[in-house]
Amino acid sequence: MILAVQSTDSLSRRFIQISPSMMNAQSSANETDQPASREIRIGDRVLPSRFFLAPLAGYTHLAFRTAIRELGGLGLATTDLVHATSLLSKNRKSLELIATNEIDRPLSIQIFGSKPDVLAAAALWLEDHGYTGVDINMGCPMAKVNGQGGGARITCEYDSACELVSRVVNAVKIPVTVKMRLGWDRDKLTAPELAAAFEQLGAAAITIHGRTRAQGFGGSVDMDGIRQVVEAVEKIPVVGNGDVRSVKDAQSMQKTTGCDAIAIGRGAMLDPWLFRRLELASQSKDWDFEPTPDEQVHFLRRHFRLMTGQHEEYSCKLFRKFAGWYGARLGIPEDLENRLRRFDSFDEFESIADEIRLRHGERESTVATALVKVPNGPVERW
Ligand SMILES: Cc1cc2nc3c(=O)[nH]c(=O)nc-3n(C[C@H](O)[C@H](O)[C@H](O)COP(=O)(O)O)c2cc1C
Repeated sequence: MILAVQSTDSLSRRFIQISPSMMNAQSSANETDQPASREIRIGDRVLPSRFFLAPLAGYTHLAFRTAIRELGGLGLATTDLVHATSLLSKNRKSLELIATNEIDRPLSIQIFGSKPDVLAAAALWLEDHGYTGVDINMGCPMAKVNGQGGGARITCEYDSACELVSRVVNAVKIPVTVKMRLGWDRDKLTAPELAAAFEQLGAAAITIHGRTRAQGFGGSVDMDGIRQVVEAVEKIPVVGNGDVRSVKDAQSMQKTTGCDAIAIGRGAMLDPWLFRRLELASQSKDWDFEPTPDEQVHFLRRHFRLMTGQHEEYSCKLFRKFAGWYGARLGIPEDLENRLRRFDSFDEFESIADEIRLRHGERESTVATALVKVPNGPVERW
């Protein structure tokens, strides 16, 4: 069971794992502040839960964020990475990525690039346009981003990384956070040192994906590495990230790392109700519920319809890649999942959704058939 409690020890800001027998004492000691203690503060922002949506380029668009928020439990969402230079030149795709609505709160915009001036100007532009949080991408492993000195490449140069954070922090009043990996490779585990430095420079939180750049998305998440980042900072929250797919995974990450919050990317597509489950678990409520078939099909339709509001006909193409992630969780028979991966029109979507409702659960595999497309082969060739 996870409870967020007020405490003065070294895990003061952290979740604390407690046994049911400790629960009563803990409850009475924290009776009045327990609801508030589920909140988390990042700079001057008070976030309603400690479970965040990690950015997934191509997936975590406004429609997905809105549909997920409607299911409850989400503390913070961050946009896909947005190229700072393109944003400043009002590139259409960049503006689409930062599109938001009144439900889509709290939201951080993730920017990337290597030039401190440009990132600072982009952050200022965002602040001037009413956005309330900026996240700097220092974790992207893609060659086209790293080749220009952005993403994970930034973490290889301590002084440049510090200058970049300092410039962005000093350009704006809104909280600036950083998302990074443990380091470039096993020999360069720079994250703890950088996290400590970024805190001194004014970063409001660090999200740490427990892999190195060399790992890409393979291998396992290094919990000890995340813990080292947690221990390296004094006060700011550390958000643990990587391979959290269930309440159990989140509890295990929290317990072994002491992180303040958890960011979930792919797990949110595998189970859109995961944030709600996590929030219920943190309140000691029953989290192991099964959404009804109607709720499951409603979610599918809702996500698609929200998408059409922003992307119109192009939504048919954009939505297809969710099919393989949603299929197992939403009880979609394999043949209908295949159709969902190829559909071309709104009418076709509606007829597939109708059939899914009629044949809900007629599915052989309980495992998601598609994985998010990640580059293949050695990371040097991405
Ligand atoms: C398809 C895909 C796109 C991603 N896009 C971004 C991104 O735009 N910015 C970012 O910081 N991380 C990005 N990531 C990394 C995720 O935010 C996250 O750190 C990683 O997937 C591990 O968390 P997860 O296991 O919960 O997905 C991406 C990952 C994937 C698989």
